[in-house]
Amino acid sequence: MKETSQEIDRFLVELLTNVGKNLEQDVTKTKDVDTKSGPNDLVTNFDKSTERNIVGIIKQNYPDATIVSEEGFGDVVNSMAGLVFFVDPIDGTMNFVKCHDSFASMVGVYLDGKPLVGAIINVMEHRIYHGGPDLGVFENNHQLAQPINSTLKEGLVIISGPMVLKNYLNTQEVVHKSSGLRVLGCAGIVFEHLLKGKEVLYMSYLKPWDLAAGRVLCETLGLSVVGVDGEPVDMLKSQVVIAGTQKVVSEVLETVKNSK
Ligand code: IPD
Ligand code: CA
Ligand code: CA
Ligand code: CA
Repeated sequence: MKETSQEIDRFLVELLTNVGKNLEQDVTKTKDVDTKSGPNDLVTNFDKSTERNIVGIIKQNYPDATIVSEEGFGDVVNSMAGLVFFVDPIDGTMNFVKCHDSFASMVGVYLDGKPLVGAIINVMEHRIYHGGPDLGVFENNHQLAQPINSTLKEGLVIISGPMVLKNYLNTQEVVHKSSGLRVLGCAGIVFEHLLKGKEVLYMSYLKPWDLAAGRVLCETLGLSVVGVDGEPVDMLKSQVVIAGTQKVVSEVLETVKNSK
């Protein structure tokens, strides 16, 4: 199993390094921008071309794997059996379009439903987070230590803006109990911050490709990733996800219970 993990880890690092180089060039080019579910849900020609490229390379190298991806170039996947790749070609498309930074590209890999390898590249900062339970977690070539198991009052939290504005699931109480709220607009970069202990909580509605790589890396470093009922997340569903230190996730689950 370790050999498989190592091989896929090397594959993902090479793949996302090349994707990152291309996106760094693309970010300032003229973009075709379309909306999806609403005016704040954007997709560009670069989301599509990047996904087509990533999916093609995965299929060449792992022809038996299935691929869950955001922009429609992957497979219809109803089962976590075998090797499943989750692809988010540009995570933080709004930042890519408006700010020209703070966006990522990510791939998470699961074997028979179990986290195997994840990789997230912070494109403009040239930092790639990668690894898995058989390997540990690395920032480029440097191995990361487990973050301190801080409590809510000791740390900053990241919660999706709309959830806090609506006080959905008592999120305003969570913010008040913490050291403060941050909002970044890119799930991949939020996971980077959690891995490095900069924040102690991420709470957001996430789709499978938003979550897959970050979940592998967080759990490998002893962080907790659960649904609002405290149960493990279902990787084939979109759901509200609570990720953070074990102490913080327990505290937040209590606060969520009081919202019902
Ligand atoms: C989005 C970003 C954002 C999160 C949204 C995601 P996308 O991904 O990660 O931070 O709040 O839920 O959909 O669409 O830019 O890949
Ligand atoms: Ca999107
Ligand atoms: Ca995303
Ligand atoms: Ca995306």
